[in-house]
Amino acid sequence: MNVLKKSLLAITVATSLVAATAVVAQPASSEKHAAYATELRQSIFKLLGSNMGPLGAMAKGKVPVDASVVEKNAIRINQLSLMIADYTRTDTTKFDVKTEALAKIWQENDHFNKDINKLTLASANLITAAKSNDESAIKKAIGGVGKTCGGCHNDFKKD
Ligand code: HEC
Repeated sequence: MNVLKKSLLAITVATSLVAATAVVAQPASSEKHAAYATELRQSIFKLLGSNMGPLGAMAKGKVPVDASVVEKNAIRINQLSLMIADYTRTDTTKFDVKTEALAKIWQENDHFNKDINKLTLASANLITAAKSNDESAIKKAIGGVGKTCGGCHNDFKKD
């Protein structure tokens, strides 16, 4: 790993640690607030899904690997990962909102933040792989990102 990559990774790690420690669950103050917070929370995950979709297809060989698309989407996924903590901090469990989020999110904050950090690191790793233009490294790194999505879903999302 060269010095620039190392320092970029260090910055990513430092940023995500700041985000992780700054977040404390806040109960929603009304039905309306809970509904809006749920909408924002799901928006982040929808954008993650939209950026991950083409990458999953590339990893499976359904479409050719395009390193520039991988790099663009990996940067977005990395940036979105840094927003998860803020957009999931409102605890909506006391209200009847349509959600697949498990209440554990607001009870096991450290664990949730660890799952967020895994996505931050895996997407940083995918940015590096995309820049290398090495197809097998890219596919492997896409798999690495996918694993962190699935890992958090197993822990914190209803099936
Ligand atoms: C730190 C935990 C965590 C990580 C990491 C994570 N997710 Fe999720 N995801 C959730 C939770 C919780 C929900 C349910 C949100 C809700 O319904 O309020 C969710 C919901 C979703 C949804 C459904 C959104 C909707 O309401 O339509 C999609 C799509 C999704 N995630 C894709 C992804 C992808 C792709 C990744 C990886 C790039 C990812 N997620 C990473 C926790 C996570």
